[in-house]
Amino acid sequence: MVNLAEQVEPIRAFIHSNQPYMSSPDSAGAGSFRLDNKSCIVTGAGSGIGLAIAELFAQAGGFVFAADIQKSTADETVRRVEAAGGRAHALEIDVADPSSCEKIVKQVMAETGRLDVLVNNAGIGHVGTILTTSPEDLQRVLSINLMGTYYLCRQALPLMIKAGSGSIVNLGSVAGVMGMEDRFAYTVSKHAIVGMTRAMAMDHGTTGVRINAICPGRTLTPFVEARMREYPEPEKFEKQLSAPHALKRMAQPAEIASLALYLASDASSFVTGAAMMIDGGYSAGK
Ligand SMILES: NC(=O)c1ccc[n+]([C@@H]2O[C@H](COP(=O)([O-])OP(=O)(O)OC[C@H]3O[C@@H](n4cnc5c(N)ncnc54)[C@H](O)[C@@H]3O)[C@@H](O)[C@H]2O)c1
Repeated sequence: MVNLAEQVEPIRAFIHSNQPYMSSPDSAGAGSFRLDNKSCIVTGAGSGIGLAIAELFAQAGGFVFAADIQKSTADETVRRVEAAGGRAHALEIDVADPSSCEKIVKQVMAETGRLDVLVNNAGIGHVGTILTTSPEDLQRVLSINLMGTYYLCRQALPLMIKAGSGSIVNLGSVAGVMGMEDRFAYTVSKHAIVGMTRAMAMDHGTTGVRINAICPGRTLTPFVEARMREYPEPEKFEKQLSAPHALKRMAQPAEIASLALYLASDASSFVTGAAMMIDGGYSAGK
């Protein structure tokens, strides 16, 4: 067990000293999008946005720990990364299980001795209003989307603070900043992620660790594509899903990965506590 109390006291003392944080004067606005030799955990890396993030981080020089509840999909991500000349390692994780979160962070530290970047991407959706969402449904969505992010942040943050640097990127959604019809549990979970991101950023701003959220619009992942194929007229359904965006299309996972790389790297050295919209104009029209 990581002894949190032991690690938290020096951190608390530093936070209350109110010293401004800058890793070095040269690093301010240095603008490097590289992750060379940085140790990066990406959850939900077996599919969609997480897969795209894992591939881009490895291209940027990072060592990627591709973590997913479906280990075979994480293995496939690693195969793709290695085929492109990158470095990655597959890990099995259930983010809803605190002991599983603790275990993978320990594994990463044992293998690389450092943790520079954590991307809390694993998440699930749920359709329903408050009246059609059972307590069990809500619990399940919160246990993965919200508690999973919380468990991993609690494991990663003390290590990053001790190292004096780190970047945490949490996957929000447009549903994290605006109400979305018939997505009660999902909207609750994503608003909470944005709130958690802002609270953590305020508490730990002077430690060298930056914490941000990404809020994508609809993104064409295998899950969305499979849903589209179930419809008698998939093209009509795609148009319907695309309609709320100013760009009148959905995002490609790689487009979301670009923002994750910006936030993970020193290019975003003055960005913390942000909930960045990457939504093709979805929220601009609301
Ligand atoms: N696709 C979109 O339109 C969209 C829009 C906004 C936000 N997002 C968010 O982006 C993230 C990724 O979405 P996606 O569309 O790529 O999803 P996806 O379903 O394609 O991939 C999610 C991955 O998470 C894994 N996962 C699920 N439960 C897990 C658990 N308990 N522990 C570990 N891994 C688990 C799945 O196995 C899967 O590989 C989610 O947080 C989602 O809410 C997606």
